[in-house]
Parts: sequence; C-alpha cells; structure tokens
Amino acid sequence: MDSSPGSFTNSFGTRIDFVPGYIEYVDRVIGLPKKASEDYVHASINAAGGHQNLDYAKVNEKFRYERKALSLSGYAARLARVYMFLDLMRNTNAVPQFARHLDIGCGIGIQPRILRALGIVDHTTGIDVYDRCTGVDESALAKQHRRLRWMRALEPFRRSAVKVPPEERSDLRRAVVEKVLDPLSPRHRHKHQVGYMPDSDFYRLKYRAKPTLDRFIQGDVFEIKEKFNLITTFTSFEWFDARTILPKVASMLENGGMFYIWVSNWWSDINVTRLSGHFPFACQRLNKDDYYRYLDECLPDHAEAMKGTYAWFDPGHPTLADYAEIGYQNGLMALDFREYNRPDPFGTHTGVSPLGHIALDGGVLQQVLDEIHQFRPDIRLTDLLPLSHSILFRKFDRSVKLDEAGLNRATSPVQFQYRPTNPALRLAKKLAVKAHPIYRR
Ligand SMILES: C[S@@+](CC[C@H](N)C(=O)[O-])C[C@H]1O[C@@H](n2cnc3c(N)ncnc32)[C@H](O)[C@@H]1O
Repeated sequence: MDSSPGSFTNSFGTRIDFVPGYIEYVDRVIGLPKKASEDYVHASINAAGGHQNLDYAKVNEKFRYERKALSLSGYAARLARVYMFLDLMRNTNAVPQFARHLDIGCGIGIQPRILRALGIVDHTTGIDVYDRCTGVDESALAKQHRRLRWMRALEPFRRSAVKVPPEERSDLRRAVVEKVLDPLSPRHRHKHQVGYMPDSDFYRLKYRAKPTLDRFIQGDVFEIKEKFNLITTFTSFEWFDARTILPKVASMLENGGMFYIWVSNWWSDINVTRLSGHFPFACQRLNKDDYYRYLDECLPDHAEAMKGTYAWFDPGHPTLADYAEIGYQNGLMALDFREYNRPDPFGTHTGVSPLGHIALDGGVLQQVLDEIHQFRPDIRLTDLLPLSHSILFRKFDRSVKLDEAGLNRATSPVQFQYRPTNPALRLAKKLAVKAHPIYRR
C-alpha cells in the first residue's frame, strides 16, 4: 500500500492524513511507550494466547511486590470505584448485602477489602495471577478512610472559587481551582480522571468491619470451581476475552447472584492502552493488521512496545452492547449500566477527549466512524465517546420456558393483595382505600 510521509493508506485504500503536531502533543502529555509493560507481556492471557498458556514460573519470578501502604489519593480512587458499584445497585431492587464475594483480577485487592469493611459482603475472596495483595497494610486503609472524611472541608472553598466562570478566572483563581482544589478534592479529581463524580454522601460511607480479605488465591480464575453471590471486576476485564470469561463468570454465580464490571472502552481515543498515532483514534480506526503495519512504517522505534500492549487487550474489542449480549447469551442479564465520558476536552491523563476532537475538527468523528465501518460495521458514534463503562448483571436461569404456572409464579408479586384478618388492620385498610384508591390494589 502506498503511504506518503504525511499519511497512511489502509488496506481498504483510504488515505488518512497525519494531523500536524498531533503525535508530538500526545507524546508530551501521555508519552509514547518504548517498552510494553512487563505484566502485559507476562501475565496477560490474551498475549499468551489463552489462560492455559500462562507461564506461572515466569510470572512468579518476574513479579515480587513489597507494596505495603496506599496514598490517600490512591485510597480515595478505590473507594470511588466501590461507590460507582453502589450507585448502580441503588437503581435496582436488590439489597446490597452478599454472603460470598469474589473479585477477579484483584491486583492489590483494595476494593474487596472496602466492600467487606462497608458490610456489603460477609466473606470476600480475591484472585490474581500474581500476588500484589497479601502485603497490603490493612490498618493503613482504615486510617486513610478516616482521613478522607476530612477532605470534605475543601468543598466550601471550591464552591466559592468556581463562582466565576472558567473564561473569566484570573490566573491565580485558575491555579487555585485547577492545581490545588481539584487535585486535592477526591470527588473532583475522580470527575476529571474518570468522568464520574461521587455524590457528597461519599464522605459518609462508614466502615462496619475491618478492611480484610478473607482469602487470596494466587492463580487462574478459570480454575475456580466454587459459587458466589457477588462477583466483581474492577479494570480487569480488559485482560480477558469477554467470550470466554463471561460464561466462566456465569458458571461461578448462584442464580439471582450479581456481577459487576467496570472496564475501559477500547473504542475511546485514547483508551487504557494509551496507544495512539499521528491522527486521532489511530488504533481504533485501523484494524489490527493495518495498525501493526502503520507502527512498522511510521513509528518503528515504538512498534514492538505498542504491539505488545495491543495484544494484551481483549481481542474482541467489545462494546457496551457486546458485553450485554454476550452476558445475556450466558444467563447474565444487564440490570443497569453507565458510561463515563471525560468532561475536559484535553487532559494530561488521557490526551484529547471527544470534546477536544470536535473543538479541533468538527468532522473527525464521522470520518473515524466511516473508516471503522470498513471492518466493524456495528460500531456506533456512542461507542466512541466513553472512556469506560460499568454494567451490573444478574444471573438468571436461561432454561426457563413460558407456561401458565410459571407466569403465575413470576407475576405473583404484582398480584399480591393484602387481606388482614385483624379487625384493627382491616379498619386501617378500609380508611386507607377511602383516602386514596391506590391502596385498593
Ligand atoms: C488492572 S489489574 C487489576 C486491578 C485491580 N482490580 C484494582 O482495581 O486495583 C488486572 C489484573 O488481572 C489479573 N489477571 C489476568 N488474568 C487473570 C486470570 N486468568 N486469573 C486471575 N487474574 C488474572 C492480572 O494479573 C492483573 O493483576
């Protein structure tokens, strides 16, 4: 394929012009990788070509973590992830109380410990291919939780500082908001980084137990044979192939059990891989073969590192709709979901957001979509916007068939009639029905 120095031509014959200064900007704000991260290369079942091919000896020899404590901001970010889960739970009729919990790809295992401390789970297990988890200083977590509550004292200052619209702020006011208050305030920092701001009740979450992990399993989740009432994964699903891990998750859940996933969105420019190029959405708008050829031809110094990172991510590049559908096919019904869009057009964490792209070139998203449709016709504009999404699933029995007995059983909660025998309660019901017909039902 003929690509000139300032452009790349994909295998469908479309020429994509480089955007002058774009890659230099991306390099400056997020950096271009020179080496794929070690855990992507050695602990990724996608890069290994399946979980059976993971080389545990190599993983154990590579990763020896001595991590003990977590900073206040690190703790607040983990607590916010738990809050995002509780926020989705609030929209369902389910009670946030689970007997047995499993966290897949638990890493340092903070979220499961927080779920245990908040009294949401009675027993928690974390599993990961390698152990970064058991060395965590649990007493420091409780200390950070107490300290975090003091951070709400910053909020009145911020409210007063942002009364002036951003374009009218003096440099001093800008610095106070952008360099001091927002980075310090856990809720606002989370909004800028993740696109989700916890409510102020975030500071009122109370520990009811110690933040302990009842069990850590160093190993492969595909080997687990037990059942749980709640399974969670926080930024770990990228490490799996949704088509193989979702059936496994369904098999480990009791009927009626819940499964929560928070995962980075492949179709976002720039996603968790931080892969990029000389034009926006480089790794999304080119298929794998074209992206690898582009790297070889146009970014040879970074090609090996970027291919290693590419290979780590779920190869199906699922959308939110894909997760919901694959889940459904395996008996997991999406009860609720959320997408998290970046509020800032430009950021030091994630480069240019969709808002930034349209500020630079109003037609770019359509052009990107047209090119993606050459190999993934199912992708929609809404798939390009969020940085991440979360879904709350409930396990259901796929073998159920519609018949009269089943219909009566399933609809009985709606048909429920209260018929008191106690005379006082009978009178109370009569008065209530008189007061409002809604009570007749
Ligand atoms: C991004 S890290 C987890 C971060 C962690 N959940 C947190 O929120 O801090 C993803 C983890 O998934 C783990 N992982 C990958 N494949 C796995 C498998 N087959 N079984 C268990 N864990 C796995 C990796 O070792 C990695 O530590």
